[in-house]
Amino acid sequence: MHHIDTYEVGATSHQGFVPEIETGLLATTASISPKFLYDPLGSNLFAAITLLPEYYPTKTEKDILFEYQDQIANAVGVGGTLIDLGAGNCQKAESLFNALKPTDYIAIDFSTEFLHEAIKNLQAQYPHIHMQAIGMDFSQELVIPKAVNTSQRTFFYPGSSIGNFVGSQALKLLSQIKEQALGGGLLMGVDLMKEDSVLMAAYDDPLKLTAAFNLNILRSVNAHLGCDFKVDQFRHVVKINHALNRVELYLEALEDLTVSWSGNSRTFKRGELIHTEYSHKYTIASIQELLKNAGFTTSQIWTDPKNYFAVIYAR
Ligand code: AVJ
Repeated sequence: MHHIDTYEVGATSHQGFVPEIETGLLATTASISPKFLYDPLGSNLFAAITLLPEYYPTKTEKDILFEYQDQIANAVGVGGTLIDLGAGNCQKAESLFNALKPTDYIAIDFSTEFLHEAIKNLQAQYPHIHMQAIGMDFSQELVIPKAVNTSQRTFFYPGSSIGNFVGSQALKLLSQIKEQALGGGLLMGVDLMKEDSVLMAAYDDPLKLTAAFNLNILRSVNAHLGCDFKVDQFRHVVKINHALNRVELYLEALEDLTVSWSGNSRTFKRGELIHTEYSHKYTIASIQELLKNAGFTTSQIWTDPKNYFAVIYAR
């Protein structure tokens, strides 16, 4: 039997999120942080989205990681410490184990409920890899516990999750990664700018899984804040913002309504929007610029034939 060390870093408890959610709901333009999309149901809905033919990022990234695994292993080096940011079900990292042969695997996620089960199963399959699980909201701050191996660190940040952040936040996170890599590197998946029709199909899919995923954030904040959002009073809205190179997700109120919670309330007019997520799309040049600004000095890039997605190793 292997014992898996688990750590909780910072506020990942319900109480810690109340002020953040309140501030977002009470703002003139209301918003809810995309991290609240990933409650247990939301995490499963996202997993279903990745199986949609229209949602190209996950499978394109998987194809790139598979096709270029030898080159990636050459760049990264074998046998180090693999630190997985937003590990989820740990499947993507597992697909690298063969090529990278990490001695240590550190799975970090906001939602630890999901993580514990995944890493327990993974540890049973790979008894020789030292595994640790960390519950952390690294969108606030990335703090790697002292107990994590310092040798040959590689941060793995797949799925274009970096796209959730606006420029300044992305720069802050990448700078923290660079610092805490201690001379190691970052293997990251980044979604590239492309035609509107491809983006719209991926983020407003005909099966309406993305609509369900987005609307579920209202139930997730109901649970955190004790408020009373009714999902059927909103609809999923997707906008493509060309000036800022991003897909924007909103929930639009279908009628005038009021949401209440412990001594507070927020009124929405019909047509009013709640912002829930940005998904920034990069170019090779813009991601290289961002990495340079974060302190990375070299990078290697792999893409798919359509140039939909890029996998980058930077150090
Ligand atoms: C997990 C943030 C990369 O932006 O494509 C999928 C989330 N939102 N469909 C993305 C998402 C709507 C996803 N990321």
